Amino acid sequence: KVKGLMFAATLLLGTALVGCGGKTEPAGNNQAGGSTPAPQAKEYVVGTDAAYAPFESVNDKKEIVGFDIELLQAIADKGGFKVTFKNTPWDGIFETLKNGDRDILISAITITDKRKADMDFSEKYFEAQQLIALPQSSTVKSLDELKDKKIGVQTGTTGDEIVSEKFGKTNPNIVRFDTTPLALKELENGGLAAVVADNGVVNNYVKNNAPKNLKFIEDNKSFEKEYYGIAVKKGNKELLDKINAGFKKVKEDGTYDKLVEKYFGKK
Ligand code: ARG
Repeated sequence: KVKGLMFAATLLLGTALVGCGGKTEPAGNNQAGGSTPAPQAKEYVVGTDAAYAPFESVNDKKEIVGFDIELLQAIADKGGFKVTFKNTPWDGIFETLKNGDRDILISAITITDKRKADMDFSEKYFEAQQLIALPQSSTVKSLDELKDKKIGVQTGTTGDEIVSEKFGKTNPNIVRFDTTPLALKELENGGLAAVVADNGVVNNYVKNNAPKNLKFIEDNKSFEKEYYGIAVKKGNKELLDKINAGFKKVKEDGTYDKLVEKYFGKK
């Protein structure tokens, strides 16, 4: 009974925190009369492509919610800084760090050497791998077998990179979408032979899609393990240190494990 209450309290707290995170007013200008605003902790603007459940998505109340959101909110609380989340399309999301529109990105972003040249990443916080989503009736057993078949990917994701490398970047069979759910919807509607995307998202979609006409397969020969990181502008060591310090605390005090359990079930 007590455990149940605790769980409910955690959920409520989580919701409240996400609620705070969702507001978009800039901090520090809430004083009437134009006198010098009281000193307030800087609020970092976080970009996330919130079409990627269960990591980040927009709920019925138009709030940005998900594993990444709760994780970064907890990291910020423990790390002693403030964050506000802004829905940011994946296409161009990395540019927003460079031009200062966003201070932090958390968006199920795979840490890659290529990306590391353009931005700095926190400690890895989640392991992932590409999956191949297929119609239930498909006989495909590997990425190789998708040669000459229509494959959907989200533009500029690691799934896009792998498929482009394998079948050629300009191969007309590679169909690129703005979001992963759009690609999966097209697969569901019969317009594609397969979708290649991150396991967590494919899993979530296939589990919840209404006609239940999709399945997925692994292909460990074609896909390596990937690790998600939180990104900051290249050289922003001060912020990166705060994030890593907060992350360390969130792991040590069990918050991280609780979130993994809440979103992905027992490990
Ligand atoms: N992990 C993949 C990548 O980094 C896909 C991430 C897409 N994330 C999102 N929120 N749309 O390329």
